[in-house]
Amino acid sequence: MTNQEVKNEDRTTIHLQKFSVPFEFPVCFTEDLFDPANTALVDALARLERDKRHKALIFLDDGLAAAFPDLLEKIDTYVDAHKRQIELVRAPVLIPGGEKIKSDIHFVEQMQQTLYDFRIDRHSYVIAIGGGAVLDAVGLVAATTHRGVRHVRIPTTVLSQNDSGVGVKNGVNLYGAKNYVGTFSPPFAVLNDIRFVMNLGERDKIAGMAEAVKVALIRNRGFFEWLEQNADALATFNKDALAILIRRCAELHMHQIGHGGDPFEMGSARPLDYGHWSAHKLEGLTRYHLRHGEAVAIGIALDARYSVLSGLLTEGEETRICFLLEHLGFKLWHAALEKRTATGELELMVGLQEFREHLGGELTITLLSDIGVGLEVHKMDDEMVLESIAWLKVRQES
Ligand SMILES: NC(=O)c1ccc[n+]([C@@H]2O[C@H](COP(=O)([O-])OP(=O)(O)OC[C@H]3O[C@@H](n4cnc5c(N)ncnc54)[C@H](O)[C@@H]3O)[C@@H](O)[C@H]2O)c1
Ligand SMILES: [Zn+2]
Repeated sequence: MTNQEVKNEDRTTIHLQKFSVPFEFPVCFTEDLFDPANTALVDALARLERDKRHKALIFLDDGLAAAFPDLLEKIDTYVDAHKRQIELVRAPVLIPGGEKIKSDIHFVEQMQQTLYDFRIDRHSYVIAIGGGAVLDAVGLVAATTHRGVRHVRIPTTVLSQNDSGVGVKNGVNLYGAKNYVGTFSPPFAVLNDIRFVMNLGERDKIAGMAEAVKVALIRNRGFFEWLEQNADALATFNKDALAILIRRCAELHMHQIGHGGDPFEMGSARPLDYGHWSAHKLEGLTRYHLRHGEAVAIGIALDARYSVLSGLLTEGEETRICFLLEHLGFKLWHAALEKRTATGELELMVGLQEFREHLGGELTITLLSDIGVGLEVHKMDDEMVLESIAWLKVRQES
């Protein structure tokens, strides 16, 4: 801790308070997490206090529970096998999966009531098992109850394992604005089980892969080439290939958060949000008919073409990027790209403004100067955005 005294004229003395809080949490990749012989979960809970019986409350994604009918029983058997270390305060609470849980803030209050009823304290655990939406909502509950109780994430979709699960954000939607209420709050531990994602519907499996293409494009050419070489295996959801994609993508996200210098996004840049300014708008314009990853894939293609038009990226590289995305199963066109407001303005350009407002400060968009190299710009040219949209349209028609 440093304390500095700064004098401002003669009548004012300013003490500069300054401290930093280190964060550390394990991210585990495993298979069959609730096999009683697998100790990953109990090890994570006992990380700081070895000899304690840890109190825990589980919130479970109901879509996940439907896809794994024996999951509740498995959890019960697991907890029973480890009862010296885990005390489950009640049976897992089923909560709506997907955007539904984030779209009504009453769910947050209801979950807080459950924490209250079962006397969850700051050394107890709130465990979320489910997709990114469930993790976001439960994460907010954990971060705000008692000003923060320990939160363990068990992500169960490709997207939540390779992206949001290792992130430090939570949130729910309010007033129609996505993630309007939320906090930056790192989890206590993250446990990824590849078995969960293998049962996911094809559409969600494909959608989650967009984040891997995104992070490869802005950070790691080698990973992009690996994705190209393994596109066949990935497109047919080969388990080993998918597990590598998830792990590599999560590592790159972790590296950015841990070493990028701005984990809580105090600045105006969101370096991991390549392809996202238009994606966020497209999700809303299609009333979330497009999955986040599907919208991101379109956003990636759009900004790749824009990077070429603005002279940053070599012509032809954007086609290569589109080929990979299509090979993985993405469609790179949606009519919402051309949607206009009542006053004739392109909705997408309104989205650009909203993106800036959400972050505050100067508009900052990540483009590509090469495959594997992201570059921040502070201005987007309307004409070139229109040309990029037109380019995507022509591609899907041909
Ligand atoms: N906090 C962050 O940093 C961050 C980053 C990216 C995205 N997100 C958020 O994540 C959410 C999207 O998450 P998502 O893509 O994981 O989807 P999702 O949470 O919306 O889940 C999609 C569907 O899959 C079901 N499901 C979950 N796991 C399953 C499984 N293993 N098998 C079968 N069905 C399963 C769910 O019930 C739901 O119906 C969005 O709300 C987005 O805003 C947050
Ligand atoms: Zn994303």
